[in-house]
Amino acid sequence: MGNNQKKRDGFSSKFGVIAAAAGSAIGLGNIWRFPYVLGNNGGAAFLIVYLIAILLIGIPVMLSEFSIGRMTRSNAFGAFKKLKPKSGWPFIGVMGILAAFLIMSFYSTVAGWTMEYLYQAIFNKFQGQDTASLNANFDAFIASGTMPVVWQMIFILLTASIVVMGIKNGIEKSTKILMPMLFVIIIVLVVRSITLPGASKGLKFLFTPDFSKLTPIVILEAIGQAFFSLSIGMGVLITYGSYIRKKNNLVKSAVLISFSDTLIAILSGVAIFPAVFAFGIEPNSGPGLVFITLPNIFNQMPAGYIFSIFFFLLLIIAALTSSISLLEVVVAFVTEQFKWKRKPTAFFLSAIFIISGLLSTLSFGTWKHVKLFNLSFFDLFDWTSANLLLPLGGLFIVIFAGWVLDVKVLKREVLHGNEKQQWIFKAFIFSVKYISPIVLFIIFLFGLGLFS
Ligand code: PHE
Repeated sequence: MGNNQKKRDGFSSKFGVIAAAAGSAIGLGNIWRFPYVLGNNGGAAFLIVYLIAILLIGIPVMLSEFSIGRMTRSNAFGAFKKLKPKSGWPFIGVMGILAAFLIMSFYSTVAGWTMEYLYQAIFNKFQGQDTASLNANFDAFIASGTMPVVWQMIFILLTASIVVMGIKNGIEKSTKILMPMLFVIIIVLVVRSITLPGASKGLKFLFTPDFSKLTPIVILEAIGQAFFSLSIGMGVLITYGSYIRKKNNLVKSAVLISFSDTLIAILSGVAIFPAVFAFGIEPNSGPGLVFITLPNIFNQMPAGYIFSIFFFLLLIIAALTSSISLLEVVVAFVTEQFKWKRKPTAFFLSAIFIISGLLSTLSFGTWKHVKLFNLSFFDLFDWTSANLLLPLGGLFIVIFAGWVLDVKVLKREVLHGNEKQQWIFKAFIFSVKYISPIVLFIIFLFGLGLFS
């Protein structure tokens, strides 16, 4: 195994892989996607389902992925192949790789927008703009073609260069410092936002549930967002789990990661929605929501210039630690299954990512009119990955963990370092065997129905 680990790079410090997994979880999903999807789905009722989904399904799926990864020390495809050779299970890994391509496509589009906004922040371009002009400028920018594509390429190449350098130093060191910094800046934004005149409407939207808004589609999107935000259902955490050392406590790690991820999402909601209402922005403005709201907040706060620069910089870094994990799933698969070298693999794959990324980026400009199932490429990839592919991957993973894997083996892996707390495993296995598969199965059927 020692040999194996050397070959697979891996994380040097005890907390390294946890930092990296938290880095994967915390990203644009928390700050860009969470507020916009919550805004589209009516607010507080969505939030409640989201929290329940994290607790009852998200954490168990995360633990299953970590365990499967660590017990096999293999990539998302290889792990299932090792555990159940000559079966259909490795197909879960193939689905994960497909999901990585779809997610990276629109994720890098949004990361590119973030880079543009860092640029605009540095050159003080938000100043003096009101909501209408911020809105118009955002729309004009995303439709403009060249720059969004350039930023996207830069982002993808940055991702590839970090993955090539190996996971060890870069990711684990930086996440440990930068994520707390991001947290502090969000707190500052929260304070500014909730002290704006008219802010209480936003808090009400976020925290006072109107259960008449709780439709099946809201539940589907809340579960999809939980999967997306935790980076589960596609093997990212199987891959990272394969780098986790035996002495790390998986339960603690999964709880800690999910907790921080959820905290950042809620805080970003509290930073965004009071401002959304205070500035008269529509909560259901879609993917542009945070890009229109945040500059408004920066314009209304002392030292807003400095904060805006820091904020967008940290957001780019948060996005990078997530995109790295998307690339890493595919790189680990190709290097281990086909014995390719890491460096050419990473750059070859990023070329494919760039091409598929164009579909999403240009769907706001040149290819605006190209629609599939009545959705643009961007919306299609965003919607299908979070609401179909990840929950479906999660469904297979829990069925595998709960019904196919040897319970004793799973228990040893999950409870390692926690042997006294048997109830944890009982709760976990109950979710993995019953709650998660049933809920995900129903939700998946429903998601399919929406297409026809
Ligand atoms: N969880 C990441 C975010 O919140 C996105 C992501 C999804 C990354 C799935 C990897 C896999 O930004």
